[in-house]
Amino acid sequence: MSFRLQPTPPARPNRCQLFGPGSNTKLFAKMAASAADVINLDLEDSVAPSDKDSARANVIEAINTVDWGTKTLSVRINGLDTPYWYRDVVEVMEQAGDRLDQIMIPKVGCAADVYAVDALVTAIERAKGRTKPITFEVIIESAAGIAHVEEIAASSPRMAAMSLGAADFAASMGMQTTGIGGTQENYYMLHGDTRHYSDPWHWAQTAIVAACRTHGVLPVDGPFGDFSDDEGYRAQARRSATLGMVGKWAIHPKQIALANEVFTPSEEAVAEAREILAAMEDAKARGEGATVYKGRLVDIASIKQAEVIVRQSEMIGAA
Ligand code: COA
Ligand code: MG
Repeated sequence: MSFRLQPTPPARPNRCQLFGPGSNTKLFAKMAASAADVINLDLEDSVAPSDKDSARANVIEAINTVDWGTKTLSVRINGLDTPYWYRDVVEVMEQAGDRLDQIMIPKVGCAADVYAVDALVTAIERAKGRTKPITFEVIIESAAGIAHVEEIAASSPRMAAMSLGAADFAASMGMQTTGIGGTQENYYMLHGDTRHYSDPWHWAQTAIVAACRTHGVLPVDGPFGDFSDDEGYRAQARRSATLGMVGKWAIHPKQIALANEVFTPSEEAVAEAREILAAMEDAKARGEGATVYKGRLVDIASIKQAEVIVRQSEMIGAA
């Protein structure tokens, strides 16, 4: 038990983060009109090296001219192991207006990676007199990233969200898979002749959720590559939601509705949460710390669980 209160993460809907390459200007208006809560304009791996400069210019223009509504607007810069990232930060921060909310730093391996970007962003904010502080989101997608996940979550007051990037993570870990998330053919237990598929992403996800919850950061599930497989996406997203993640990426517009469906608490879940809170109020009035709801124990911990669901639903409703 700790006397410290668990910090609350940013109060914003983050059910779906829609990605689009900075080189594909045709997509920007469609992204803005979508039902995604967060928009990630990409300068990194969906942009070819020869397009890096023009993608940066496209993204700056799109931030300044497209109506992004109330969405959280984020730019994914290139990794710190590339020659591109400093120009991404300098040009975007100097030329994009206040509509920009967030910078996504990929392939973060330690807290000092975030510190380096923070130093540059802070200097530009001061030089340009920017009044709205830029927040950060990072991708955990390497062995170093997961090994240092907690220090990364604690690395900067700018930290707002953290995603698991399954493809780069699998490559860095030397995992024998080319799938981006989801069930892996060779990851099973045998019971007699029956194969029971287990979840190879589980450990990394729970490590991310724990680090994020400790430091008031939103934990997010990253991409699901096979955008023809709705049920596979749903299953992956439901596991993530069960573990405490608040949302998932969409790399194709058809994944947006799936993410919103899974990460919006259902009416039944919200109604049940409210009933649990009411049952606990009654118990408290009787001087009891625990009671029975629909044949099962509910106690003071149940209040906290129910409040998570009610809070999520109210925040989404208010957005
Ligand atoms: N955001 C908004 N709209 C998108 C979109 C996106 N990311 N991707 C596709 N669309 C639009 C298309 O323009 C098309 O619109 P239309 O009906 O008006 O013509 C419609 O959705 C259907 O697209 P579809 O033809 O099925 O896909 P595509 O072949 O055009 O593109 C991808 C497929 C995967 C290349 C594209 O979805 C994409 O670039 N995704 C993002 C990749 C990315 O950013 N990766 C980095 C993070 S992992
Ligand atoms: Mg990646």
